[in-house]
Amino acid sequence: MVADVVVAPAVTRPRIRIQGAVKSFSGRVVVDVDDLVLGDQPIEGLIGPNGAGKTTLMRMIMHSTPLDRGTISLLPAGGRETVLSSLPAHRMAHHGVVKSNQVIMDFDKLTIWDSLLLAAAEARYEQPHRVFSERTVFGRHEDEIRHYLDYFGFADPTAFALSAGEKKLLDIVRCLLLRPSFLLLDEPTAGLPDELTDKVMTVVKDLAAAGTSVVIVEHDLNVIWSLCDEVLFMAEGSVILRGAPHEIRANRTVVEKYLGEGHV
Ligand SMILES: Nc1ncnc2c1ncn2[C@@H]1O[C@H](COP(=O)(O)OP(=O)(O)O)[C@@H](O)[C@H]1O
Ligand SMILES: [Mg+2]
Repeated sequence: MVADVVVAPAVTRPRIRIQGAVKSFSGRVVVDVDDLVLGDQPIEGLIGPNGAGKTTLMRMIMHSTPLDRGTISLLPAGGRETVLSSLPAHRMAHHGVVKSNQVIMDFDKLTIWDSLLLAAAEARYEQPHRVFSERTVFGRHEDEIRHYLDYFGFADPTAFALSAGEKKLLDIVRCLLLRPSFLLLDEPTAGLPDELTDKVMTVVKDLAAAGTSVVIVEHDLNVIWSLCDEVLFMAEGSVILRGAPHEIRANRTVVEKYLGEGHV
């Protein structure tokens, strides 16, 4: 006889739970999320019109934009729940939560190599500057950095990143070096040529396959439809639709109302 046992589905990926999270700027509510769990699926796409609150929501998760109210927690795979919204922003990477930036401002003062070395060290050492002088610390990251620079076609690591595209790629490499368990990507491929977009997507797929939860904001909906296991549609500060890509595309009225024609 087969025992009548109900087995709860094993959750192997880290998830982020957002509860009652509200953010206003100058009295105008730009994010108002009641109860939302991210990370149930390996790759989740966050789409919606400009100004919907996608970047702000990601910044709230990272605690780089403080919440007016609400709670954001990390439910690690097999670990103890951590309230992210009470952590300082610089502690997030220690918990595996990492985000790429929509607008890149770093990478101006150090060479490509030094920027990446410092980024890799930052999350792990109390005194990141030691990475430059200590051969052992340096050695730990060298191969990995070289691998990514080769992969993305950076010929000279002693140069400075000049173009917006180069900075964008380096910001993605920075995220990868932090070995994220939960990765948030805010328009990672905007402005990149197709060939590099494909390379970024390959890396994202590999990460997700290895157990990282990925949430990606992306304007190019073809990327979203082909890459994501689940899509969340955000408008006016809230997630108004959620489902598999084909389910979201089937909601033509909503998608076209907010994004215009020709997207589904
Ligand atoms: N620091 C800020 N100060 C004032 N308004 C802001 C700030 N950041 C975002 N906003 C406003 O919040 C709304 C949501 O912006 P954002 O989160 O960037 O949207 P999205 O990423 O979906 O395009 C926009 O109307 C934007 O102008
Ligand atoms: Mg944005």
